[in-house]
Amino acid sequence: MQTASETEQPVQPAAPAPAQEAAPAAAPAAPAGQHHQAPAVYEDSFDPASEARYQEMLAKQHQPARALSEFKRTKLEADAARNWDIFYKNNTTNFFKDRHWTHREFVELRETGDALPRSRKLLEIGCGVGNFVFPLLQTNKELFIYACDFSPRAVEFVKASPDYDEACCKAFVNDITADALADHIPAESLDLVSAIYVLSALPPHKMQRAVENIRSVLRPGGVVLFRDYGLYDAAQLRFKAENRIDDRFYARHDGTFSYYFSTEFAKELFGNAGFEVLECAYVKKEFVNRKEDLHMERVFLQARFQKK
Ligand SMILES: C[S@@+](CC[C@H](N)C(=O)[O-])C[C@H]1O[C@@H](n2cnc3c(N)ncnc32)[C@H](O)[C@@H]1O
Repeated sequence: MQTASETEQPVQPAAPAPAQEAAPAAAPAAPAGQHHQAPAVYEDSFDPASEARYQEMLAKQHQPARALSEFKRTKLEADAARNWDIFYKNNTTNFFKDRHWTHREFVELRETGDALPRSRKLLEIGCGVGNFVFPLLQTNKELFIYACDFSPRAVEFVKASPDYDEACCKAFVNDITADALADHIPAESLDLVSAIYVLSALPPHKMQRAVENIRSVLRPGGVVLFRDYGLYDAAQLRFKAENRIDDRFYARHDGTFSYYFSTEFAKELFGNAGFEVLECAYVKKEFVNRKEDLHMERVFLQARFQKK
């Protein structure tokens, strides 16, 4: 169980209409020492009183008159790769922190000690600039990591890193909702696929296709390691009606998407594609900033799905 400080995408100020070229605005970082984080709690559900309170907050976002027009939604989908590319142009490698916690959370990422170097193969989908990939390559010499992203700029950052070594990593551009992963990776050859804060960036109607795509390169018995935004996360509750596209699905003001997963939906998504659920739970974390009297309940979803 992970209790150390971890940087997920910060809660962004709920912004007005999503502007195509605007730089993403993260919540301003709290001065050092003022943020307190309680240990994470892993649960399957929400207590009825909290759920009723959250539902009430979400109901305020449901104002059809203020919702994004069909034209804007279609354009955001068409420009998805471009908007992420602009995100990386503006933020370079400075936005996400390295994800040093992944081998603590996922047993499959620990070295077994009895495998040969680079004997296990993992694909990181939506790798960004490598915040998941590089810490893992340092701690696990058994892994060879394929890393893909549909932002060419992100992939260039990965390849330009001093830690990028073709002996243990191959980065390539790929839209997981449209381009066959099997064009880059032998079919059914991977032991692991990691989906860390990436499926939430897809429109829900494209998620099933992405999961099928993952399945095509995973060997039978291979496992998907999943971590993403969870239902009723503080970031979800702060969105305005103008950001809402559909239930649990929003556009940020920089044009990137954000979906908030329930355990039921994640299980259905992977179940439909022939995966067995090994683990699927909400990870709830309380952040308190006493100086600003700010109290945030972040909710993430962590899961492991095994290909039958
Ligand atoms: C929140 S970032 C997570 C990056 C990385 N997984 C990490 O944990 O640091 C989401 C990433 O998914 C990528 N992405 C979004 N939609 C994608 C798609 N359809 N195909 C491939 N990558 C995608 C974005 O470009 C972005 O780099």
